[in-house]
Amino acid sequence: MQLKINGKLREVSGAHGDMLLWALRDEMGLTGTKFGCGVGLCGACTVMVDGVATRACITPLAGLQGKEIRTIEGLADGATLHPVQQAFLEHQTPQCGWCMSGQIMTVVALLDRNPVASEADIVAALSRNYCRCGCYVRIKSAALAAQQKLAARREGEAA
Ligand code: FES
Ligand code: FES
Repeated sequence: MQLKINGKLREVSGAHGDMLLWALRDEMGLTGTKFGCGVGLCGACTVMVDGVATRACITPLAGLQGKEIRTIEGLADGATLHPVQQAFLEHQTPQCGWCMSGQIMTVVALLDRNPVASEADIVAALSRNYCRCGCYVRIKSAALAAQQKLAARREGEAA
């Protein structure tokens, strides 16, 4: 089957498993999407499907045809990081880093959908993305800073 991943049509066989996570990691080599619990609980495998934060470990390949799949590798514009990535970098957010692509994709999906999300909205969106290193304070700070960066970018584009 063909799937649209980060704007490109890619051939996917499902040979490594029938869930999206294995096609991304084992067939496409997109290892930025992490395997944590494998049962939809931790959020490490979060990607975007048609703009919605989605747990790749429990998302069957069947049914994804025609949908836009976006992974952490699809965020940067060449050498320029996405504002959410840049904010996470500036806040030195990761410790081990395992949860970070899932955290970032969750924030991108939220702020794409709701650019004026409140702090409570951001906390709620991230509440099911676990960080075993306990970086929650920095994750929230980075998400709030990312929101400011995105607002500044929109203003720059509108000017
Ligand atoms: S690996 Fe998918 S939610 Fe934990
Ligand atoms: S930085 Fe280690 S699990 Fe979040």
